[in-house]
Amino acid sequence: MFKLLRTISEKLKLDITFLKEMRCYFNIICRHNGSSRTMSNPDKLLSLIMRECHVLEKGMSLPDPHFPFGAERACSLIKLLKEYVKIPGYDKETASSVTATIRSYIDYNETHGAALPEVVRLLNSLPESVLNARHDTGTGGVIEVDTISIVAESKNDFEHLLKSRHSHRDFSNAPVPVDLIEKALQLASCTPSACNRQAWRTHVFSGQEAHDILDWQGGCRGFSDKIRTIVVVTSNLNAFFAHEPMQAYIDGGMYAMNLINSLHYEGLGTIPLSCGFPLTKLRKLHDHGIPEQEIPILIVGIGIMPEKTKVAKSTRLDYSKTNTFHE
Ligand SMILES: Cc1cc2nc3c(=O)[nH]c(=O)nc-3n(C[C@H](O)[C@H](O)[C@H](O)COP(=O)(O)O)c2cc1C
Repeated sequence: MFKLLRTISEKLKLDITFLKEMRCYFNIICRHNGSSRTMSNPDKLLSLIMRECHVLEKGMSLPDPHFPFGAERACSLIKLLKEYVKIPGYDKETASSVTATIRSYIDYNETHGAALPEVVRLLNSLPESVLNARHDTGTGGVIEVDTISIVAESKNDFEHLLKSRHSHRDFSNAPVPVDLIEKALQLASCTPSACNRQAWRTHVFSGQEAHDILDWQGGCRGFSDKIRTIVVVTSNLNAFFAHEPMQAYIDGGMYAMNLINSLHYEGLGTIPLSCGFPLTKLRKLHDHGIPEQEIPILIVGIGIMPEKTKVAKSTRLDYSKTNTFHE
């Protein structure tokens, strides 16, 4: 009887801990999320603009786009930018990079015979100061890369490894050698983890099942047929105590990044694919043999890079904008 009461009281204590955590999480997410009051918060608005700008870049890096593409998205992006540049102290470098991306998006469509008069009109309605601004980081669009130099650079040193990795959205038809994936998985296991629990788990799929998962993921429309193999990276919740469930995402995310760099080091092209979905959607992965205790972190799409390919530039913010040196 005493044992039973103790078990019930321990379970109650745990349930209360979870509820308290969820309430804190609920409060913070209610205040700080990109979906609400986006237009009145410069930080949220800029993130939305960067996201929408990347959609255009991504379109330009697809293997066979249908022209014209993305005109409505481009118009909405310009309207967002128009609002953003009214904010005193707005980020001029990023605004310049966005306008450069829109320009190269227009050129890209025009050179393929698709004029975008409405996009051009809206772009020209931006203030002169924004249109004429040119900054070092003010380039956007896509870059052409060749596989021989990428592979050589990835073997050079750490700086070159990081700088030569890109998200690839075009792959050759060749299958991905399993031994290279195995080498990368071994290398990625050097990832540190909280108290060395190594809670990462990986699930490798190819063929029809990989494509069923890619269809479910949905963020690779327009190039999913090019992906040969996928690795679903998960994190085992059983490894973490009641007060630290989010640690699973941290450890899993660190592992996923090392896996991507390791695959790149082995000469393979990769594309990270989001698993940032509601749990109701994520549950569908159980149908593919992913156990309930494993939370999906990321899907890594893998393929052999073609000789020459286009990748989105994905211009980075200067580190000074994302760092604070504290006294
Ligand atoms: C967590 C995560 C999820 C991503 N999801 C997608 C996706 O669903 N579709 C896609 O095309 N790219 C996706 N990407 C790729 C990003 O667009 C890309 O990493 C970013 O633009 C930086 O470019 P880079 O990887 O070439 O440096 C994702 C990247 C990360 C890190």
